Amino acid sequence: MSVLVLGGAGYIGSHTVYELIDAGRDVVIVDNLLTGFKAAVHPKAKFYEADIRDRKAMDEIFEKENIEGVIHFAACSQVGESMSQPLKYYDNNLYGTMVLLQSMVAHGVDKIVFSSTAATYGEPERVPILESDRTEPTNCYGETKLSMEKMMKWVSHAHGLRFVALRYFNACGAHRSGKIGEAHNPETHLIPLILQVPNGQREKIMVFGDDYATPDGTCIRDYIHVTDLAQAHILALDYLLKGGENNVFNLGNGVGFSVREVVDCARKVTGHPIPEEMAPRRAGDPAQLIASSEKAMKVLGWKPQYNDLETIIATAWEWHRTHPHGFEEV
Ligand code: UFG
Repeated sequence: MSVLVLGGAGYIGSHTVYELIDAGRDVVIVDNLLTGFKAAVHPKAKFYEADIRDRKAMDEIFEKENIEGVIHFAACSQVGESMSQPLKYYDNNLYGTMVLLQSMVAHGVDKIVFSSTAATYGEPERVPILESDRTEPTNCYGETKLSMEKMMKWVSHAHGLRFVALRYFNACGAHRSGKIGEAHNPETHLIPLILQVPNGQREKIMVFGDDYATPDGTCIRDYIHVTDLAQAHILALDYLLKGGENNVFNLGNGVGFSVREVVDCARKVTGHPIPEEMAPRRAGDPAQLIASSEKAMKVLGWKPQYNDLETIIATAWEWHRTHPHGFEEV
């Protein structure tokens, strides 16, 4: 039987496919290649270029393939864009998931692991954040992900589907092989943007706000390596295959780093001075997001391997240094 990975040509999806194939699993990928890259598709995976909103295409895939479970990454994920184009997020993230679930229910496929986000919490009531804490998203991206969790809950109630929602904190780093890594267009994430400076593609990094209530005034985030996220998806799928109940897990290292600390660490890794410049706050940024991932460790047996920021940034640097234009050939 195969694992169906939706969005398997994207950043976290492609890394999960690499880990699944290393673990000897058969993988079928569906990706519409709007933000994913064909070059990120593992050569041993079976690939369909299709959109999860296309019911006919999804039905055909479920009829043709022998799917034991679904891992769902196929969504839009830019916070800023979600605020200016909310309907794009409702369409791709919510409507897309609705069509997918309709097709899964029709074909008796009843296990799904999917990408949720720390953005479901909004401004946290405390750190580290527990899964049971208040969820009040401050942006449309987080809202659609929280709604996806709720959609799964009701579909589970009615049709017996079982799901695991994985709430990622700040995904970063690249695969140890150097073959795949982070590539967004446009890039909005802190670590790839910082690394554009030593790569000669940017003069300096803008620091969005230094007046937050944190020790150095810049925002604190919990940076988690993409391969550790990938492993958590496999553990979550196996948990469902063994009969595990619906569940929600945070995935982070449980340690926060400020924007300034991340820039400093990148200077150390790359040996480049990386100039920084203060800029106004970015709308919708909470001051601090740090995960408690105790639950994932206890219930899934998850143990992040990359818990050191320097090592994490070194894997990202290796990828960006050798692939300055990501998967695009220039
Ligand atoms: N930042 C800068 N300068 C930049 C880019 C980012 O100072 O040029 C700051 C941001 O203001 C933020 C921190 O660096 O304080 C991290 O920003 P990212 O854009 O890398 O990541 P976010 O924390 O905003 O968002 C990420 C994912 C979202 C997800 C969220 C959950 O991109 O999809 O984590 O915590 F919802």
